[in-house]
Amino acid sequence: MPPKHVAIVTCSTRTPRLNPTITQYIYDVLASDPTIPTRKATSPSNTDISPDTDPRHITLSILDLAAQSLPLYDENVIPASLPPTDPTPHYSKEHTRAWSKVVRQYDAFIFVTPQYNWSIPASLKNALDYLYFEWRGKPAAIVSYGSRGGGKAAEHLRGVLNGLKMQVVGTSVGLPVKFTGLPVGNLSEVEERVEIDERDLEGWKEAGVEGMMKNLGMELVCELDKA
Ligand SMILES: Cc1cc2nc3c(=O)[nH]c(=O)nc-3n(C[C@H](O)[C@H](O)[C@H](O)COP(=O)(O)O)c2cc1C
Repeated sequence: MPPKHVAIVTCSTRTPRLNPTITQYIYDVLASDPTIPTRKATSPSNTDISPDTDPRHITLSILDLAAQSLPLYDENVIPASLPPTDPTPHYSKEHTRAWSKVVRQYDAFIFVTPQYNWSIPASLKNALDYLYFEWRGKPAAIVSYGSRGGGKAAEHLRGVLNGLKMQVVGTSVGLPVKFTGLPVGNLSEVEERVEIDERDLEGWKEAGVEGMMKNLGMELVCELDKA
């Protein structure tokens, strides 16, 4: 059995944004869990997975939707109507073929989504809608964040992922963001440096968030073992 590749997906695409900071936090929690046999990806672009032949390994990568630069959905084919085993060449647009190739590299996904007006950001729905068989049947997990943890976004996302016939694990994690904020001013160069406020981190620890995150990781690994 080959090693498995798990993408931790950064779902908001605006500048500035909090999402890369939250995604990195989740990556760090999962990568530090000795019960999850992770191996860090070597490519910062995370679309180029280096070879690994150890079947026990799970490679965790961060996949940033902002880096995909997908336009608002403009395909003229319906993804679910394409050949299931190799849909990629059948898309009408080069950006869809490129996105299809990226997603096909991964065996499972952890979607890290903010809540926008009680739902997921349009960037995430757009990226999901572009494809179908590239998602279908693969394990997925949800981490949301918002002032109260982004539970409504998580609920909507679960419905969408079920529609794509993904294997969504039972545990989802909601991170209430009460104190962490983006600095003011021209931020296009500094967004990666936004730090999680200690008071939020403390609140998450008290709520057992890191333990829940590890459960989520283990559930994903169990789903991957079934595949
Ligand atoms: C368009 C928009 C809608 C939002 N709606 C909600 C909401 O419904 N509930 C909530 O808790 N926070 C909401 N927020 C606050 C976001 O959770 C917060 O701005 C967070 O930083 C967004 O993630 P991002 O910075 O990675 O884009 C909203 C923010 C934006 C930009």
